Amino acid sequence: MGEQRGAAVIGLGMMGERHAQVWKELPTTRLVSVYDVVEERAQEVAEQLGCEAAGSLEEAVRADGVQIVSVCTDDQAHREACVAAAEAGCHVLVEKPLATTLEDCDAIIDACERAGVKLMTGHICRFDAHYTRCRDAVQAGEVGEIVQVFARRNNIVPSGRRIGPRTSVAYFLGVHDIDLIHWVTGKRITRVHAEASSKVLADIGADDSIMTVFRMEDDSVGALETCWVIPEGSPNSLDARLEIVGTLGRVAARVGGEGFEQASQERAMRPDIVYWTEMHDRAYGGLRRQLEHFADCVIEDREPSVTPQDARAAVAVAEAIHRSLETGAPAEVGT
Ligand SMILES: NC(=O)c1ccc[n+]([C@@H]2O[C@H](COP(=O)([O-])OP(=O)(O)OC[C@H]3O[C@@H](n4cnc5c(N)ncnc54)[C@H](O)[C@@H]3O)[C@@H](O)[C@H]2O)c1
Repeated sequence: MGEQRGAAVIGLGMMGERHAQVWKELPTTRLVSVYDVVEERAQEVAEQLGCEAAGSLEEAVRADGVQIVSVCTDDQAHREACVAAAEAGCHVLVEKPLATTLEDCDAIIDACERAGVKLMTGHICRFDAHYTRCRDAVQAGEVGEIVQVFARRNNIVPSGRRIGPRTSVAYFLGVHDIDLIHWVTGKRITRVHAEASSKVLADIGADDSIMTVFRMEDDSVGALETCWVIPEGSPNSLDARLEIVGTLGRVAARVGGEGFEQASQERAMRPDIVYWTEMHDRAYGGLRRQLEHFADCVIEDREPSVTPQDARAAVAVAEAIHRSLETGAPAEVGT
């Protein structure tokens, strides 16, 4: 086995801790340092996983041996950490969305280009076979020309309560499907018309649901459903669909109701075993495959599966969705 690449993680919430665990476990990488604005959090994760707790962003990305940095801060706080990591000469894996403005996307992309480092956004669904099978069929021409696309991503309400004050359901959930629609079809969304509803999360000023109708560059049409207030008692914490109807065929993926169910006297649950699960004390699932892919791209000097322009294109659509919500009219997707 060759030299292990050192990794650092910035932002140690739910996702950051998972990134850190995978960097520690992969045979090609080792976890060197972690950083969070909440100092005790960095100390806690460092102690648990056996690495350095950095006292600052700079200290984390410049720690001895760090070559890969995962940025897992809140959606709107990706820019500073990505730019610092790139300027320290590290390859950057940033959680989705790349950023919440095109200006931040461009600053991150420019910093990585200037430094000559790789940049990948964690569009994790590209590492889920439900969706890779859709793409393979569409790209092989088995569906023919695209006629219509439907995507849904609904989460239970704790997710909206936790994240709602910081970002929107379009940036947090919608970008997954926007990226998938672009990637699976090979076509970009060009115009959107969105409507939103806010009842459950009105007290925190967040939309509960955003429904978007869109047109694509090949004149196909589609609908995107994003909601993060489905009842907590629902068995599935995630209900996600993708359906593509073409002139020759149809592909459809359904994620969130996998064949594992657990029930107590009060409720039944179908927890995620696709993106994150542990088996024999090791992490498995989409997140591990995504990080493994990025490490392999660094080691073999290959272009990662999600290009910076792909990630920027998903943000451009989310931005257009918000423009449409503000004006009440259709919005062209910016370039
Ligand atoms: N790929 C997926 O399936 C998936 C799932 C959930 C979240 N995410 C993405 O991961 C990112 C993090 O989400 P989360 O759910 O882990 O959030 P979280 O709230 O659980 O964690 C965010 C952490 O970042 C820290 N932080 C905030 N600003 C910081 C800064 N400037 N410097 C250092 N630390 C900072 C916070 O203290 C917190 O510990 C978001 O971009 C989110 O959209 C991806």
